[in-house]
Amino acid sequence: MRGPSRDEREYARAEDTFLLEDGIAGLSGRAALDIGTGSGYLARALERSFGLVVATDINLAALRAQTFRAKNRVCCDGAGALRGAFDLVICNMPYVASGPVEVYATDGGRGGVEVPLRIMRSAIPRVARGGRFLFVTSSLSRPDELEALARSMGMSTRVVSSRKMFFESLLLMEASRA
Ligand SMILES: C[S@@+](CC[C@H](N)C(=O)[O-])C[C@H]1O[C@@H](n2cnc3c(N)ncnc32)[C@H](O)[C@@H]1O
Repeated sequence: MRGPSRDEREYARAEDTFLLEDGIAGLSGRAALDIGTGSGYLARALERSFGLVVATDINLAALRAQTFRAKNRVCCDGAGALRGAFDLVICNMPYVASGPVEVYATDGGRGGVEVPLRIMRSAIPRVARGGRFLFVTSSLSRPDELEALARSMGMSTRVVSSRKMFFESLLLMEASRA
């Protein structure tokens, strides 16, 4: 069995990146967290309107070679290295159904939801009171399981918007804390 390549490069921006970009337009606050930052494109957008932005990725090679260099980069699983509360947490999930994860940028593990569930468990405790977690996933990757987990962790959920692709819809989803 092959593990993820340590040399894997960053995820090139795509439709899912731009769906999340639309979702963060106009948002501002004190602190934001971009989980799975990849190229750093979204973190750099957040830096324009949030006082502090932290960008994490599990892939050190991608973080080192970022096209859009985020100010604060942390290599960790989800938000595992972080403490404190962020007004906004975002993640463009790796959501392709796979066996064992071989490509960090895209593989979501079992059903395409295994990695997103792990990221969500680590992300939600970092959402401040009155804050939100905005994430992108696919209609094919068991979004109902993500909603159920978020609700079990005390969040309200909704689908903010969607974009039809060939065989699936990309979903921009929100889990908010009252
Ligand atoms: C679909 S790409 C999104 C990249 C970028 N945010 C964008 O929107 O273009 C998913 C990113 O999540 C990272 N990733 C995968 N599993 C992760 C995990 N458990 N914790 C943190 N980052 C992870 C990947 O390395 C990759 O950069």
